[in-house]
Amino acid sequence: MSNKKCGYYIQLDDIAEKFLRIGQFLGEGHNGIVYLLPDDKVIKIFKDKKVCESEFNILKKTTKSKHFPQIYYHGSNYIVRSYARGVRLDYYIKENGLDYNAAYSIIELLKEFKKLGFTKLDIRCKDLYLDENFYLNVIDPKNNYSKHCIYPRHLMKGLNKLGVLGDFLDAVNSEYTEVYDDWSFRIKRYLKRGIK
Ligand SMILES: Nc1ncnc2c1ncn2[C@@H]1O[C@H](COP(=O)(O)OP(=O)(O)O)[C@@H](O)[C@H]1O
Ligand SMILES: [Mg+2]
Repeated sequence: MSNKKCGYYIQLDDIAEKFLRIGQFLGEGHNGIVYLLPDDKVIKIFKDKKVCESEFNILKKTTKSKHFPQIYYHGSNYIVRSYARGVRLDYYIKENGLDYNAAYSIIELLKEFKKLGFTKLDIRCKDLYLDENFYLNVIDPKNNYSKHCIYPRHLMKGLNKLGVLGDFLDAVNSEYTEVYDDWSFRIKRYLKRGIK
């Protein structure tokens, strides 16, 4: 079967068809479309099966972490997973600035990336949803075990754009002291001279 609800035709199996029929559109990215399902679940339908497989492989390795979506069901081009509650972190910061609770949550998440053995210790603000308990939920993990990034460059670049990099680095200095010198040196050098 194929389905026009995606805006383009994607072959889906009967189970995915059923989910899609009851789903409500949540958002679309480069790689897929996401629909909200009952019981705090979503279905992400991928344009490319390889991208689906690599995202599935990351999610398998992060099942122990509550920051990442749990997987309920999957097919060759879709994954049914838990819904990430909260507001997109960049929208939150635009409204509220970066308060200490939010900064603390980001730092806890980055420590978790290390525990999970990620080689890419980085994420973008738009892939993080901050819930009412200041807990950060990740959507759309990518290349966490294939790309190498030893400090959160994209994240800090985003925070700089939002005008809160100083607040974040102050929190890093208190809560993650052992990386403070390295991260602040690297991000300042990157922002000034473009050296990654
Ligand atoms: N768990 C989720 N909770 C809320 N919104 C989501 C969730 N997953 C995805 N979305 C929405 O769907 C969009 C596309 O999902 P995403 O996983 O980023 O796809 P892509 O890999 O194509 O970038 C997101 O930008 C977001 O708006
Ligand atoms: Mg995305």
